[in-house]
Amino acid sequence: MQHNDSILDTRTLTASGPAIAEAARIVRAGGLVAFPTETVYGLGTVATSGAAVARLYAAKGRPTFNPLIVHVADPAAARGLGKFNAAALALAGAFWPGPLTLVLPKTDDCPVSDLATAGLDTVAVRAPDHPVAHALIEATGRPLVAPSANRSGRVSPTTAAHVAADLGGRIDLVLDAGPTRVGVESTIVACLSEATALLRPGGVARAAIEQILGRPLTAPAPARADAPQAPGMLASHYAPATPLRLDADRVGADEALLAFGTSLPPRADRAVAVLNLSPAGDVVEAAANLFAHLRALDRTGARAIAAMSVPREGLGEAINDRLARAAAPRP
Ligand code: TXA
Ligand code: MG
Repeated sequence: MQHNDSILDTRTLTASGPAIAEAARIVRAGGLVAFPTETVYGLGTVATSGAAVARLYAAKGRPTFNPLIVHVADPAAARGLGKFNAAALALAGAFWPGPLTLVLPKTDDCPVSDLATAGLDTVAVRAPDHPVAHALIEATGRPLVAPSANRSGRVSPTTAAHVAADLGGRIDLVLDAGPTRVGVESTIVACLSEATALLRPGGVARAAIEQILGRPLTAPAPARADAPQAPGMLASHYAPATPLRLDADRVGADEALLAFGTSLPPRADRAVAVLNLSPAGDVVEAAANLFAHLRALDRTGARAIAAMSVPREGLGEAINDRLARAAAPRP
């Protein structure tokens, strides 16, 4: 079924079998298709085609020094792309398919385009846990690069409508399978040496990873100016247009409130709008709501968004990371 006729000429199709086959045809021809994963919607194209990857960077307005995650249908397909050490094998075994990305040394004959890896000698790989993502990769028969399907620097999309609002007219097709389950992007872990480093907190909690490893994750090596280790981890990212104020314990004039839990701050009734990440105080529910709530409050015309504090446990680490980047000074 086709709906949402077009926002500036980008079709949205409900993710049925024929729609996925059509998406695979488009992607094989070097086109750009947004598709759901369990974390957020991704903007996919063939990872081995430099021309297709170049179009993808242009559509997102993404700097080409910021490499992309390669999505595979199953762990076996990842073996041809990156070299797995013991930690990588253990983590892939425990969490794939799922919201974990591994940064690995490229294999000698890694077919991923150098543009997709930004010329690095490493490659970021994940096997997403979503039937539509899986079916699209299988039908394409190639690994797919898929950054989050938003304009560079903006809030990641958790619905097909978010994708159309950001990228309508710039991409060929959106596959719609409803809101994503996890709501924040994958956790990124670098398995490049004996040290196993957390590059980005995300959909798999740090504690679950450390339990499999049997030791703590390390911090990433200091970034080099020319080739930062996780270039996407720029201070300002995931940002709504409205300024965001963190750890709010009151609501100021003309502010909207991004709430968490039952006890709202003083003057909450005066907020321009209130959206609660999780009235029950559950960080998993909060992660699933985070980006949709930020987008909705961004549209209220509020002077600022006041965000209540969210505990750092579990997915709370990723939520706090995204809120901090959304609040950081803009470039
Ligand atoms: O959940 C997700 O990971 C989503 C869905 C669509 O799969 N994708 C996603 O992609 O969040 P993107 O492009 O928005 O973020 C990819 C991150 C960036 O921070 C990038 O710098 C980092 O992965 N990255 C990619 N390749 C890397 C590499 N070789 N070394 C270090 N970081 C890398
Ligand atoms: Mg992104």
